[in-house]
Amino acid sequence: MTSTPAHSVDEFDPLDPQTLQCPHAWHARLRAEAPVHFVASRGMWFVTARELVAKALSDHATFSSAFGLPQMPIPDSISDEVEKIQAEGWPPVPTLLTADPPEHHYYRRMLAKAFTPRFIAQLEPEIRSIAQDLVRAIPNGAPFEVVRGFAAPLPLRVIAKVLNVPDDRIDDFKRWSDQFTATVGGQLDDAGLLEQARNMVEFQKYFAAQLDERRAAPSDDLLSGLVTAHSMDDDDEPLSTGAILNIIVQLLIAGNETSTKLITGVLHELAREPKYWDQLREHPSDRSADLIEEGLRFLTPVQSMFRITKADATLGDYTIPAGQLVVLVFGSANRDEELFSRPDDFDPDRGNAKAHLAFGAGIHSCLGAPLARLESRIALEELAARFGSVRLGEDNDFAYEPSFMLRGLHRLNLVFAEGEQR
Ligand code: HEM
Repeated sequence: MTSTPAHSVDEFDPLDPQTLQCPHAWHARLRAEAPVHFVASRGMWFVTARELVAKALSDHATFSSAFGLPQMPIPDSISDEVEKIQAEGWPPVPTLLTADPPEHHYYRRMLAKAFTPRFIAQLEPEIRSIAQDLVRAIPNGAPFEVVRGFAAPLPLRVIAKVLNVPDDRIDDFKRWSDQFTATVGGQLDDAGLLEQARNMVEFQKYFAAQLDERRAAPSDDLLSGLVTAHSMDDDDEPLSTGAILNIIVQLLIAGNETSTKLITGVLHELAREPKYWDQLREHPSDRSADLIEEGLRFLTPVQSMFRITKADATLGDYTIPAGQLVVLVFGSANRDEELFSRPDDFDPDRGNAKAHLAFGAGIHSCLGAPLARLESRIALEELAARFGSVRLGEDNDFAYEPSFMLRGLHRLNLVFAEGEQR
């Protein structure tokens, strides 16, 4: 259980360092006293009750996703130089996460044609072989930092496979991916920002050339699916290179950090409660599914997302004026005691974990959910196939990355051991 803060809800600051480390008690307080709450110091409205979060998600006409691309302001000192670098690439096109209908429907329809459940399901053998590779490299009975060694490389290599990045470009791909996330919740100095701009353009040129190749000779991969998606429907325009590049960036950002944080968080819970590891060893496929679903509810790696009100919006007894920045707190909705009993307990047997909003809902609901579920289930299954036990290692600070949107441990030392005895 988390303790309830003594102060009034007016003192809630989502960016307070302590709150960033553990926001749950504040969320419970907000749900009880002010489920729609204006945080004046930050100019943001926080929606924390499940029912109201779900209502806002279903009303995309009022709660718009066109909140702009999350970008760092570029300091004047280097803005000319950054612009010169960017001029060699493609300007950003807002597509899925940051687009409203009708553009959103178009981009979503196009990606959905290529990124089908069937396409994802047939990745299973590849994902399993990537997971097995990573599991083989884990030391037996010795400390192992699981974020860097397992939970981050797994989704990265899976996305690389989805995008058909050849093995000799994996290091470049990792560098580009790291560069995209460097400014999500972090700061870069001038040299770092210039480096980031160069990497973005390098990434764009690499994938633009790949897209040209697929246009000339389509195969059965995702890039081919994106360049040919329009041909399945006479009314659709082909996706522009700029739009596909943006979709690829969204797949990288939406798909990597999120799955990393889910896998890390579930392993943290397993290391704390040995009986779950034993159950996982006994019934790997069923148990991994339960553990991942409850992990999604309990951990909620995407803690919240922005919306902008297009008009005055009524949520329950509250009215949010037009033009306001709203934060839909999925992490709080997933611990709403109206729906989930003992919400602060990690309980894979709760039965209704799947009612969580960890993947959002409505028109923006996560397109990668089947892939996230598949890769994280395989991660658990392959770890349990080799190791008889897992426990917490020494030297853990259990510090979370300081973001109210993406929640996860920045590192986690575990000790995996082969054999039946713990
Ligand atoms: C545990 C892993 C993941 C979590 C918790 C997660 C969570 C979410 C959430 C909450 C949204 C909705 C955002 C909103 O309403 O504004 C979303 C959207 C999205 N996710 Fe995921 N995601 C995960 C993994 C993935 C993966 C693996 C991919 C693809 C490779 C992916 C691709 C997307 C895309 C493209 C969207 C935008 C959909 C749209 O706007 O129509 N996600 N995700």
